[in-house]
Amino acid sequence: MAQIQKNFWVLEGLDGAGTTTQLRNLEAYLSQKGVKVHCTAEPTIHETGRFLRKVLSGEIKVPQSTVAYLFAADRDNHVNNPEYGILSHIERGEIVVSDRYKFSSLAYQSIGFDFQRVDELNSAFPYPEVVIFIDTPLQSCIDRIDSRGQAKEIYEKLEYQRQVLANYERIFSNLPSGCRLLRIDGSQTRERIFSDIVQGLGI
Ligand code: TYD
Repeated sequence: MAQIQKNFWVLEGLDGAGTTTQLRNLEAYLSQKGVKVHCTAEPTIHETGRFLRKVLSGEIKVPQSTVAYLFAADRDNHVNNPEYGILSHIERGEIVVSDRYKFSSLAYQSIGFDFQRVDELNSAFPYPEVVIFIDTPLQSCIDRIDSRGQAKEIYEKLEYQRQVLANYERIFSNLPSGCRLLRIDGSQTRERIFSDIVQGLGI
């Protein structure tokens, strides 16, 4: 039986889908309502996450299998660290919202490494109560990445993102009961996207 973690919500989407903006919106909205909330993200801000940023930028080159292990290691610390881990925040009565989680590993790492192996590496991590999928059209995501004018990360390519999207659909069609998919139309304005999230979560 898959373990579902109460008071844990996750945002997912393609690169450029706008999950980070909506994480900030949720943080401001919930705090303003007096709800104790902890917003976080993967890759994390800790050493493992910083190492992953170098892999994503292409500065450090490792096999895709290694990337899968690195994300799983970063996630293990992110979930279980007794001082600042997701579970410790939830134990303190907070709602935790994460910008990306194990669904990203299943969608991205399974392109260069076996899906079953990625799944196994992530099987011990609990599912969130809700996964909010910002469903932004592929071409809009690519346009946003291009318009940032920054150096692109290794996965920020049209063909790769197309495969990521197909993987997300497969993963979301197979979520365990108790883990709700909240699919949001990401082609709308940021404001409309956020109001759909608020409505969907009933907050
Ligand atoms: P993100 O922080 O959302 O992108 P940005 O650089 O725009 O802030 O995500 C970083 C990248 O990491 C993104 O391409 C998805 C990828 N990723 C994985 O491949 N596997 C994972 O498990 C996670 C959490 C992220």
